Amino acid sequence: MTYKIAILPGDGIGNDVMDAARIILDTINLDAEYLSGDVGWEFWCREGNPLPDRTIELLKESDCCLFGAITSKPKEEATRELDPALRDKGVSYYSPIVAMRQLFNLYVNMRPCKAYEGNPLNYRDDIDIVVFRENTEGLYSGVEFHPLPQAVRDALSLHPRMKAFEDVTNEDMALSCRIFTRRACQRIVRAAFEYAKDQGRKSVTVIEKPNVIRETSGLMIREARKIAEEYPGIEFWETNVDAMAMWLIKNPQDYSVLVTSNLFGDIISDLCAQLVGGLGFASAANMSDNFAVFEPTHGSAPKYAGQYKVNPTAMLLAVRLMLDWLGEEEDAQSLSRAIASVIKDRKIQTYDMGGTSSTLEVARAVAERV
Ligand code: NAI
Ligand code: MG
Repeated sequence: MTYKIAILPGDGIGNDVMDAARIILDTINLDAEYLSGDVGWEFWCREGNPLPDRTIELLKESDCCLFGAITSKPKEEATRELDPALRDKGVSYYSPIVAMRQLFNLYVNMRPCKAYEGNPLNYRDDIDIVVFRENTEGLYSGVEFHPLPQAVRDALSLHPRMKAFEDVTNEDMALSCRIFTRRACQRIVRAAFEYAKDQGRKSVTVIEKPNVIRETSGLMIREARKIAEEYPGIEFWETNVDAMAMWLIKNPQDYSVLVTSNLFGDIISDLCAQLVGGLGFASAANMSDNFAVFEPTHGSAPKYAGQYKVNPTAMLLAVRLMLDWLGEEEDAQSLSRAIASVIKDRKIQTYDMGGTSSTLEVARAVAERV
């Protein structure tokens, strides 16, 4: 069966690294049809929608998506750059990547953070962590209020702790809801354990803060404990998120699979990425049971746009994640070895690694070894 793969380069260096990805895809010669789609700032400015409906249709027809990077700007700038004809049409900017996560229920955000031998940016050479971040709810559920509507205020006043805020007006109070569902807790923890089982990993660490955030973190921990019992061969550790930040700096080599909620996962996964070289090496898979979006986690880095200067490794690792997800194990392994080998040689390096090679030179070097 020929795969249908949506290709959304987006803005800035999203295009540079997507060209690098195409070199690899052409070399692998995957039986796939690549469907290019519009996404990003240009479409916000011209159409008032950075993720046009035609792109959503294209995604629905595809097996999965490879995403570059997009530019987002604060509210005032976004309005200023919008086509004047659209300004009073009530359109407002919304991040396409967040929209895709919600639209396609991409509940797992998986970010591998592996120290490749020879990478001068490694914090240590023996780090091999995979972060599983819940991708649809938690503090990023989008349920927020400011000022507080009176009905919400009335509902909150059912809680005895609200007495402490009695003298604060609705105007002076903002509320962002941390929503956890049993369903989402279960499926993210299960995804982490299934991965650990599949990959023969020794431990899964659930990261929350149940001693303080008793209800939401508590729910996650209780569900995690139940699921952990189904995987007796895998060690199950529980760590508070604040302590985890410390442990990850102190002993990152001790950890294997991490699982946590949306905000904590966002923070912890950036911390882990930096331990193994930072933005040029951080790729992510956003996955549901039947669709997935693979991306480097860096942004559009406008100052380098079109210069083919940035490190394509994060994007190439995203291609590797895609091949894994498609079940193309041989190609995935071979790409993975090729990336590792180019890093180990220390000859072809982009500026962030202290080298002078271009984005496409790195991609070609990897392609030669695939
Ligand atoms: P950024 O990730 O685009 O770049 C920050 C800096 O990191 C760059 O100036 C560059 O020095 C370095 N860098 C990034 N990717 C690199 C790579 N592959 N190789 C080597 N160095 C690299 O973040 P910034 O500057 O905060 O945001 C720029 C735009 O990107 C903004 O509009 C922001 O909203 C957007 N953004 C989009 C994301 C996405 O598409 N998923 C994620 C983060 C930011
Ligand atoms: Mg982030």
